[in-house]
Amino acid sequence: MYLIPFLLLTSLLPLTITAETVLGIYILSRHGDRSSKSTPPTNLTTLGYSQVFTSGSYFRSRYVSSSASSPILGISHDLVNFKQIAASAPLDTVLMPSAQGFLQGLYPPVGNQLGVQTLRNKTEVQTPLDGYQLIPVQTVTTGTASEDSAWLQGAGNCANAITSSNEYLSTPEYQDLLNSTSDFYKSLAPVVNATFGEDFLSYKNAYAIYDLINVATIHNASIPFSSLLTPSTLSQLSSLANTHELSLAYNNSDPVRAIAGSTLAAQVVQALNTTLTASSHAPKINIQFGAYGSFQSFFGLANLTSLPAITNTDTDGTDFTAIPDYASTMTFELVTNASVPSPSTFPAPEDISVRFLFHNGTTSNSSHPVAYPLFGQPALELPWTDFVKGMNAFAVGDQSDWCQACGNSTGVCASVAPQGSLCPGGSNDGGRGISKAVAGVIGAMVTLAVILGVEALVFLGAGLRLIRKNRLASSGNNNGAVTETDKAS
Ligand SMILES: *[C@@H]1O[C@H](CO)[C@@H](O)[C@H](O)[C@H]1NC(C)=O
Ligand SMILES: *[C@@H]1O[C@H](CO)[C@@H](O)[C@H](O)[C@H]1NC(C)=O
Ligand SMILES: *[C@@H]1O[C@H](CO)[C@@H](O)[C@H](O)[C@H]1NC(C)=O
Ligand SMILES: *[C@@H]1O[C@H](CO)[C@@H](O)[C@H](O)[C@H]1NC(C)=O
Ligand SMILES: *[C@@H]1O[C@H](CO)[C@@H](O)[C@H](O)[C@H]1NC(C)=O
Ligand SMILES: *[C@@H]1O[C@H](CO)[C@@H](O)[C@H](O)[C@H]1NC(C)=O
Ligand SMILES: *[C@@H]1O[C@H](CO)[C@@H](O)[C@H](O)[C@H]1NC(C)=O
Ligand SMILES: *[C@@H]1O[C@H](CO)[C@@H](O)[C@H](O)[C@H]1NC(C)=O
Ligand SMILES: *[C@@H]1O[C@H](CO)[C@@H](O)[C@H](O)[C@H]1NC(C)=O
Ligand SMILES: *[C@@H]1O[C@H](CO)[C@@H](O)[C@H](O)[C@H]1NC(C)=O
Ligand SMILES: *[C@@H]1O[C@H](CO)[C@@H](O)[C@H](O)[C@H]1NC(C)=O
Ligand SMILES: *[C@@H]1O[C@H](CO)[C@@H](O)[C@H](O)[C@H]1NC(C)=O
Repeated sequence: MYLIPFLLLTSLLPLTITAETVLGIYILSRHGDRSSKSTPPTNLTTLGYSQVFTSGSYFRSRYVSSSASSPILGISHDLVNFKQIAASAPLDTVLMPSAQGFLQGLYPPVGNQLGVQTLRNKTEVQTPLDGYQLIPVQTVTTGTASEDSAWLQGAGNCANAITSSNEYLSTPEYQDLLNSTSDFYKSLAPVVNATFGEDFLSYKNAYAIYDLINVATIHNASIPFSSLLTPSTLSQLSSLANTHELSLAYNNSDPVRAIAGSTLAAQVVQALNTTLTASSHAPKINIQFGAYGSFQSFFGLANLTSLPAITNTDTDGTDFTAIPDYASTMTFELVTNASVPSPSTFPAPEDISVRFLFHNGTTSNSSHPVAYPLFGQPALELPWTDFVKGMNAFAVGDQSDWCQACGNSTGVCASVAPQGSLCPGGSNDGGRGISKAVAGVIGAMVTLAVILGVEALVFLGAGLRLIRKNRLASSGNNNGAVTETDKAS
């Protein structure tokens, strides 16, 4: 008599085999292909635009469209619903346009039917450009280095992080590489001497040299002495730049160096917490555009750098100790296998998990993001509370924590850090005096501020609307952002 167990089993099936539901996502994306940092103004190229657009289209087919493979519960499929999406990027000519290109892929033009609006007098108004959709991108002012800055911590503004990164330059690891690669870099002089002087050619400038040559190998059909750029030379340039940049972004005995990853972690937790807490009223899609430094800092903090490198995937390999390619994405999915009564009533937090995915380079239909385990544990899905605990071990999301970690006591930190008290390191300037390199960084930051100021004027002149989002000026605010709308028209 196997009938009864069989019936029992089939009646249980609908309960046990519930499809997974995605409740919300947080994506950090690197910008697309750009011009070199050494030939300013650095800007997004057509290839880069196409990369972020392709990636946005992939995420549409995964999470948004009516035939999506892992649809986000309750998401608007074609017409964007402003309440459901929060996009942000620093204001520069690489990251901000990348965000816009990505969003065009995520919510493409809707054609001449859906976007039509009927006025009181019955006149029908058509959206321009075949139903093109406008999606606001908030301006991030802190936590993410701008692409116009050559130095990793350049726009980070965190005093102790800048000092910490600079300390790498006096470690024996650094000195060894500086000495042992000296001939290698000098040998590349004929290739780059139009841009860099002889003195510049050393491991000290590993990223700038790699960047110039990498951009040239993509765009320049007439690189001088290009025969010097053998595959092994290119691979050595890239691997030295990887080591250099990871060392500036993360050091496991000095967490403040990875401040970009710490603020990112806080933003992810706060955004997903808001999605869970406010369900139907909160954004379901959070997208931030950032520089590779934020990725590398996070990779280090979340123990991803200890995962073995994977070289045989369908396209690019993944090596968390390396710089992510253009248009790379990290995705945090809020998922549940419990039944979800309605888009506005989520299951209890203990039934909700977070999955972390990464894709090196442009994501497309033929090359998908892959899940990786966070925090040095084996599971690919972490219960929400464990995820929050893991992230909060290094997250810095509150103004006073940030000021304390960074040792800053002036400006926005003046009110939270009384002079000489809360600031280990910062108050003790004798011990951590401003080195020459830091002074250079500060100079670069002033230049950057001027560039950003000029850009802001250009935006104002063009009558565009900017929304400034000063995430860190918002201690205690649940969604992590005080949004001051700057209707500059
Ligand atoms: C981007 O920069 C390159 C060279 O720096 C320049 O030729 C190109 O016109 C710029 N593109 C835009 C859209 O500004
Ligand atoms: C209807 O209203 C719009 C906006 O006020 C105006 O531009 C248009 O001329 C009106 N159409 C007619 C037929 O009155
Ligand atoms: C923190 O301190 C550094 C170095 O003094 C300074 O350059 C930076 O602007 C400060 N950041 C803030 C947010 O005040
Ligand atoms: C990391 O920090 C420790 C302690 O400050 C230092 O000894 C070590 O050399 C650093 N490593 C790198 C790669 O900067
Ligand atoms: C690197 O070279 C310099 C001079 O060429 C020397 O003074 C220094 O000791 C060397 N450092 C190492 C770690 O070999
Ligand atoms: C760059 O190096 C090449 C080969 O050594 C030389 O012919 C050329 O004149 C140099 N250009 C500059 C600007 O120094
Ligand atoms: C290619 O490289 C050469 C030599 O550095 C430079 O003169 C030229 O402007 C570059 N062309 C492009 C399109 O970047
Ligand atoms: C969201 O954060 C608030 C404030 O930290 C906390 O009280 C609440 O429990 C969190 N919600 C979830 C679902 O974790
Ligand atoms: C991404 O791919 C490039 C090129 O294949 C590789 O050099 C780099 O190590 C990879 N980066 C990461 C973070 O996996
Ligand atoms: C949901 O169930 C599927 C199939 O058993 C499993 O692969 C997936 O990891 C589960 N998801 C979560 C969040 O537990
Ligand atoms: C990717 O796949 C989705 C769904 O399978 C499809 O709608 C879309 O057209 C595909 N995109 C490309 C560029 O092939
Ligand atoms: C994760 O990394 C931290 C420091 O980066 C280290 O202290 C910790 O032991 C690592 N945890 C695991 C489980 O690997």
